[in-house]
Amino acid sequence: MLEGLDLTPAPAGAPGLQIDAAAASRIHRKADPSYYIETYGCQMNEHDSEVMAGILEKMGYRRVPELEAADLILFNTCAIREHAVERTLGRMAALKRLKYVKPEVIIGVGGCLPQQEGAVERIKKRAPHLDVVFGTHNLYRLPQLLESAQTSEYPVIEVWDAEGEVIENLPAVRPEGVKAWVTIAYGCDKKCTYCVVPYTRGKERSRRPGEIVEEVRGLAAQGYKEVTLLGQNVNSYGKDFAPAAYDFGDLLLDLDRIQDLERVRFMTSHPRDFTRKMVDAIAQSRVVCEQFHLPVQSGSNRTLKRMLRGYTREKYLDLVNYVHDRVPNAVITTDIIVGFPGETEEEFQDTLSLLREVEFDSAYTFSFSVREGTPAARMKGHLPEEVKKDRLNRLMEVQNEISRRRMMAAVGSTLEVLVEGPSDKNPDVLSGRDRGGRLVLFEGPASAGAASGGPGVLTGQLVPVRITEARTWTLYGVRRENELGRRQLAEAAPAEEVSA
Ligand code: SAH
Ligand code: SF4
Ligand code: F3S
Repeated sequence: MLEGLDLTPAPAGAPGLQIDAAAASRIHRKADPSYYIETYGCQMNEHDSEVMAGILEKMGYRRVPELEAADLILFNTCAIREHAVERTLGRMAALKRLKYVKPEVIIGVGGCLPQQEGAVERIKKRAPHLDVVFGTHNLYRLPQLLESAQTSEYPVIEVWDAEGEVIENLPAVRPEGVKAWVTIAYGCDKKCTYCVVPYTRGKERSRRPGEIVEEVRGLAAQGYKEVTLLGQNVNSYGKDFAPAAYDFGDLLLDLDRIQDLERVRFMTSHPRDFTRKMVDAIAQSRVVCEQFHLPVQSGSNRTLKRMLRGYTREKYLDLVNYVHDRVPNAVITTDIIVGFPGETEEEFQDTLSLLREVEFDSAYTFSFSVREGTPAARMKGHLPEEVKKDRLNRLMEVQNEISRRRMMAAVGSTLEVLVEGPSDKNPDVLSGRDRGGRLVLFEGPASAGAASGGPGVLTGQLVPVRITEARTWTLYGVRRENELGRRQLAEAAPAEEVSA
């Protein structure tokens, strides 16, 4: 096994980020070097990749769409389930040949995986040809790490155990367009017994409200219409402030005052910390959308307790009912884990009955995956894969039926859709989302310009769309103006020329 060059200093508050614009060409000894980032995992990771891209572009790198063409390849990894880890390790191992034929390429791996117990050894074993390994806490050290990698014959490994201060003013390269992600808090202070995130992302640290409001205001001024606030538990935002007098509801109301901003979404919510005051703030605000991703994980009180989720089925149902009372047309989605160690068939049935009772618009369903170092890994009663698979299938069958029904209920209604652009498959069909976060496709003659690669004149606009058809994941409709236009046309035209 290769020796790792360990650069790990104590993470004592980061220095202001000074980025040398000539760094990339110095590191690669060529003009105009390029980078490619492959991202796994959640939105937090997606946004971290935007920050990595921001740092790299300030160093003088240029993005390329293919891995093979890049001088620098970065993997931003996820450790949430074993399946995700295996996939990434396989991908990294497969680059051995590329590194052999193109030894000057620098390959790096960052994100949550290196933070996990034993993962660095695993990475080095599977992909000894990697040049840089870094974690979530020292992402902003990328320039120094790449410089070191260029001169070191060993992989440069720098993974910090502890989170440092929140670093502000990091550059980010966001896709141009309509919506943007904004992190409001890093890390997680919950200790759900199955979950690796508190180990990979560290303690919860909230960004100051002023910094967030400024960032969102800046995005709105650049033309972004929608912002999604990110945190592992957005509802505990601000609890780490001393004194903790400002909470998530206050932040939403402050953002509500930003001009030109049309929509605010947030994820992920934790049922334990979601207060009625926050629901009231959402109900009262103009921009905050009626979308609640509210992971419940299980419908069984015994399982919830063993997961250390901090609420009961009854408390969860109270919250959902309060949301429905205060926020008409709320779209509520969830995450479920089946096959938690010791979960009985009866407890699994409790989860099915909860799905039927709440009627979630959709659910992300997962089979329990053992994470080394977490309390659940050491629990008794791990279930065979077949049992977990069978429960997952039965769960998805129940939920798919509910999702379909919920989508059908939207048929005939008119929804406000924020247009994101022409759909991938057909430039004459526009794609966007309603306030509930549901994907809506509709005919858009105004996609003029889209065919020639432009964004189309409706992109970034809010348009009323009457829903005419629904499938499990997508709503289809007609733009209200078009519909009216057609009706007027029909009224004006001789009867025989008008088709239905
Ligand atoms: N912070 C969020 C989500 C974290 S991870 C929350 O608290 O809900 C996203 C989802 O992955 C979780 O909601 C959970 O359903 C799932 N998950 C996390 N750890 C898992 C594990 N060990 N096995 C299976 N699913 C897991
Ligand atoms: Fe993991 Fe629980 Fe924190 Fe979510 S709240 S990130 S599931 S520990
Ligand atoms: Fe995965 Fe890390 Fe997100 S483990 S789910 S990328 S916080």
